[in-house]
Parts: sequence; C-alpha cells; structure tokens
Amino acid sequence: MGKLDGLTAIVTGSGQGLGFAMAGALADAGARLVLVELREERLKSAAGTLRDKGIEVVAIAGDVRDRAVADDAVAQALDTFGRLDILINCAQWLAMPVPFIEQDKAHFANMLDSGLYGTVNFMQAAFPPLKERGGSVINMGSGAGTGGNLGQAAYGAAKEAIRGLTRTVAKEWGADGIRINVICPAAMSPSLIGWFEDKPDELAAALELNAMGRFAEGTDIGSLAVFLASPDCFITGQTLHCDGGQVMP
Ligand SMILES: NC(=O)c1ccc[n+]([C@@H]2O[C@H](COP(=O)([O-])OP(=O)(O)OC[C@H]3O[C@@H](n4cnc5c(N)ncnc54)[C@H](O)[C@@H]3O)[C@@H](O)[C@H]2O)c1
Repeated sequence: MGKLDGLTAIVTGSGQGLGFAMAGALADAGARLVLVELREERLKSAAGTLRDKGIEVVAIAGDVRDRAVADDAVAQALDTFGRLDILINCAQWLAMPVPFIEQDKAHFANMLDSGLYGTVNFMQAAFPPLKERGGSVINMGSGAGTGGNLGQAAYGAAKEAIRGLTRTVAKEWGADGIRINVICPAAMSPSLIGWFEDKPDELAAALELNAMGRFAEGTDIGSLAVFLASPDCFITGQTLHCDGGQVMP
C-alpha cells in the first residue's frame, strides 16, 4: 500500500526536470496526477511515460500565469478523480545569469509572473477542494534566494517572495488542515545541466562547497515531496534545502 493511495495531486511545470520527477514519485506512492506544463511536446512525452507505467494522468497544456489554467486544472482534478489533496508549484521561467543592473522590468515580470503569481494562482484555485479534507502544498524556492547567487537578482527575489507567501498562508490555512512548505533544491535537471554546461570551473567550485560532494537527483527531490505530501507529515511553513548541503542558512 502506498503512502498516497487514493489521493490526487496537481504538479505544475511537470514536463521535465524536478516537476516530472516529483510527479513520478507521488504516483509511485499511489497518487493520481494532473500535470500542467507550458510546452506541449514536453507535456506529451511526460504524460506518455507515466501512462506507460499504468499511472492515471490528466495532462493540461497551459501557462501558470493564467488563473483560468489553474481553475481548469482544479476542475479537471475534481471531474476525473473526485478530489484534490496535493499541489506542487514547480513551474518557473528560468534565464541565464544577467547582472542586476541589466535586469529590466520585463526580466523581473517574467520571473515574478511565472514563479510568484503562478504559485498564487494555483494556491487560490486549489483552496476550496484542499480545505474539504486538508492537504499539502509544496512550493519551490532556491538557494539563489536563501544564499544569493550572482546574476539571479530577479529569480532570487521571486523565490524569496514564494517563501514569504508560504509562511504567511501556512498560518492562515493551518486551521483548515492545509500544510504548505518550500523545497529549495540543487538537483540534476535539464536546466541545471544547461546552466553549468559551459562553466566547468563554477561547477567544480560549487561541488567543493557541497557537504555530500554532489547535487541531489530528481529521485531525492521526489522522496522529499512524498514525505511532505503524506497525510502523516506534521510539518508546515518550513523551507527544506535538498541539495547535499550546498546551502546551510
Ligand atoms: N534544478 C535545480 O537545481 C533547482 C535549483 C533551485 C530551484 N529550482 C526550482 O525547482 C523547480 C524545477 O526546476 P527544474 O530545474 O526542474 O526546471 P526545468 O526548467 O527543468 O523545468 C521547469 C518546467 O516548468 C515549465 N514552465 C516554465 N514556465 C512555465 C509556465 N509559465 N507555465 C507552465 N509551465 C512552465 C518549463 O517548460 C519546464 O518544463 C523550479 O521552480 C526551479 O526554480 C531548481
């Protein structure tokens, strides 16, 4: 019997990387899935891989910046599976490092709209069904926010805004049995591999400072997501760094 048997989860940004890894881990623990992803080809491939394993999946191509997409995802979760228990807000526009002084309003808007407002959209849309039985929301932060990182001012600001949102709403929704936490990963994903592709020295320097000598794998993030999503978890309002000891705030 899985820890999440009979539960339903929405996972945004689940076409690849950590969203896909967390979706797979939740499904292995028994959850039914609603995947939301901006890029249709990624969504198709991710949903196909999971369905080939016998997992029940609703796949929605859409942009988390649009509240109507969040409402549709919640409606489809209820229509198809009859309930919603878990929400993972993983979607985030990403960009290569740019000095803060060169980051214009459009750059900030892309970071905040996809990360912060995408998370807001899905949390607000999911609140009515989550409060029926209680549930778990997992948001994504970053060491770029908690520890700072060169060239990631807007990204770090968006991720720290998500952490502030998480702590505040965790207090508001605790009485409804809804727990909300943040995972700050440093974990292998296509985006992280792309980030370090032409920076081997930076990668070596980062790993030198890493207590475990490696970044997390998608499976490590998936295990943490299952733990936080489980009804027997009593943690809320917290940030968990899953990065091999990269950032120790
Ligand atoms: N990989 C890491 O080490 C790391 C470190 C710190 C934080 N994070 C955070 O973890 C999460 C996942 O990271 P990842 O490395 O797997 O990223 P990724 O880029 O590999 O995957 C993110 C997915 O989200 C989708 N997406 C982007 N904008 C979207 C939108 N507006 N609507 C719907 N989908 C959208 C992308 O198409 C992509 O498939 C992100 O929130 C990221 O900021 C990752």
